[in-house]
Amino acid sequence: MPVAFENRIAHYNERVAQKLDAVLPPVTQAPRMLHEAMRYAVFNGGKRVRPLLVYAAGECLQIEEHILDAPAAAIELLHAFSLVHDDLPAMDNDDLRRGKPTLHRKYDEATAILAADALQPLAFGVLVDMPDTKAELRIRLLRLVADACGSIGMTGGQSLDLMAEGRSLTAEAIEHMYAMKTGALIHAAVVAPALLAESIPQAQLAAIGAFGRTIGIAFQIRDDILDVEGDTDVIGKQAGADERLGKATYPGLLDLEQARRRCDELLHGALQRLDDFGEAAASLRWLARFIVERDN
Ligand code: IPE
Ligand code: IPE
Ligand code: MG
Ligand code: MG
Ligand code: MG
Repeated sequence: MPVAFENRIAHYNERVAQKLDAVLPPVTQAPRMLHEAMRYAVFNGGKRVRPLLVYAAGECLQIEEHILDAPAAAIELLHAFSLVHDDLPAMDNDDLRRGKPTLHRKYDEATAILAADALQPLAFGVLVDMPDTKAELRIRLLRLVADACGSIGMTGGQSLDLMAEGRSLTAEAIEHMYAMKTGALIHAAVVAPALLAESIPQAQLAAIGAFGRTIGIAFQIRDDILDVEGDTDVIGKQAGADERLGKATYPGLLDLEQARRRCDELLHGALQRLDDFGEAAASLRWLARFIVERDN
């Protein structure tokens, strides 16, 4: 009997933590406050869903785990950068993240801006330096991650999110914004191992990509549901913040029940895309369910 994914999470979290620790400059290196702030952004209790998706997609496609440490860490660094900016007063103006003061609260706004600025190129550097991977594959990964992070991905989605404050969007426009601000990095996490599987059939690559896009939208709808019904102490950030900011969200447009139903629909659509992978996709299936059922 293979070990259930749930029992491998600690192992994968340890792997990615080691990689992150190895690539982040030590706090003893100048500028010390900046390096300390970068580490605070990365090591303060995130769920590590994106690295876990990288490892789970790697299991599905039989990629060696030591090759996956770099894309897992790079995508987590980009995620950490996105959260630091997301919390800034000019954006969501949040005081709490993962139950602790946000970076600009713990340090100051300028340090938060600069720490996030530095996390982004650090992530690209990690991919450039990827061990045991041909330059051509590293370039493909860099393209995937650059698109996922930039104005046609996460950053563009964050812009749409801010522009939509106080306005009412259609469900379709909300999902488009979610696909960009949250779905793009999640899509990149599951597609990165597929790019490393050089001889992957086109149909499998498309199925993995569609899985990532679909579960990425569901991830943000779940985040929004937790913002409405969650307990600040459990979700680690201020519950009810979306309503206070007049955010255009799925549960705000419809109601919680319909948002939950849409989440389930997306989960089933995502799972269907994995049918052809059989048992190899068991870990991806587990994570997809976790994403729509999680409590924080
Ligand atoms: C929160 O992401 C921000 C969104 C994209 C919705 P996560 O819920 O993955 O945050 P951490 O890293 O686990 O704190
Ligand atoms: C964040 O969405 C999406 C990002 C790209 C960072 P939210 O603003 O809803 O995330 P939380 O609720 O602050 O974690
Ligand atoms: Mg936001
Ligand atoms: Mg926010
Ligand atoms: Mg939110």
